[in-house]
Amino acid sequence: MPKNGEFWDFYWEVRLQAMQDLGKREAILAVSKLIRKLAKHKGSPLRLLELGCGEGQIIGALLDAHPQDCSVTASVGLDYNSHSLEKCHRDYPGLQLVQGDFTDLQLLSSLGQFEIVLLVNALHEVFSAGYSPELGEVDVPAAKQRVRQAFTGAAERVAPGGYLALFDGLETPGDAWEQLRIRFLHPQARDDFLVFACEYHPFRVSYQEVGDSYCVELSRRDFTRYITKSIFLGKQLWQSERLESYQYYNEAEFRACFESHGLMIQELRTLTVNYDKWSSAVAIETPGVDFPAEHILILAQNSVDGGSGIPETEQYFNT
Ligand SMILES: C[S@@+](CC[C@H](N)C(=O)[O-])C[C@H]1O[C@@H](n2cnc3c(N)ncnc32)[C@H](O)[C@@H]1O
Repeated sequence: MPKNGEFWDFYWEVRLQAMQDLGKREAILAVSKLIRKLAKHKGSPLRLLELGCGEGQIIGALLDAHPQDCSVTASVGLDYNSHSLEKCHRDYPGLQLVQGDFTDLQLLSSLGQFEIVLLVNALHEVFSAGYSPELGEVDVPAAKQRVRQAFTGAAERVAPGGYLALFDGLETPGDAWEQLRIRFLHPQARDDFLVFACEYHPFRVSYQEVGDSYCVELSRRDFTRYITKSIFLGKQLWQSERLESYQYYNEAEFRACFESHGLMIQELRTLTVNYDKWSSAVAIETPGVDFPAEHILILAQNSVDGGSGIPETEQYFNT
């Protein structure tokens, strides 16, 4: 029986129950839809590559769901963390795994090309690795250069007519140094903020109390980082999350990066899954300011058509 949209809504609803409050669930849903569209045009099964695949929650779930449309054995997950890859192998034994650094362009070029290349929550780690002990912060120009190099490597792995799917953090546009005033709505929220300000590693966080200890002023840059990291405060994950800046590019920078690599953006969405949690902890007192968009999701097509059978200009997301 052909599987329709309703079937897939139900399938993912059940399968991704544990990911309800994780933004990357949206990446899985969008790429599942993309696979179904591409499979209509492609004679042979689709090959997937995930750079920074971790335990395989993204590529593994997609291959499990679409065994007829994708080739598990021709798909590859790459990560430099051996523990994550071991777990990935246990959960998805058919998938080829490569241990290595995806900023290594030589390694990437040895992998061949793929109809779908996934970069899910991976590039912000490349940016964060640009921390400079001399500066005591991320060296932003050098870190952005590393991100761009890794992006180039990923873009080159996309077969003609294929897609690059990116999901990651989003820098807010506008003046990063604009001062915002916020009020913590309960003692735990304030304590969590103090831990964040003291332990967040990629950038020095500065703030001033205004009037009472529940009200502070801080830059838009630091507010965005605090608010998107707040779900990890008090949890074990904070120990690794405190080392990473989730933000590195704003929307305009993402667009420019895709376009300069010949990748035509077919879908771009910004999203926030934690708005209710944030607004129960913090009120923004500066008029006209709202919580930031947290994630960006981009699906872009390699516009060079090398006879892949995938129509170059089809708008996959209008149906
Ligand atoms: C936040 S996890 C995301 C894992 C997976 N994409 C997911 O969404 O479930 C980021 C992964 O990227 C890997 N990673 C970061 N930088 C890397 C690099 N330069 N080379 C290889 N792997 C890298 C980390 O080891 C980690 O497993």
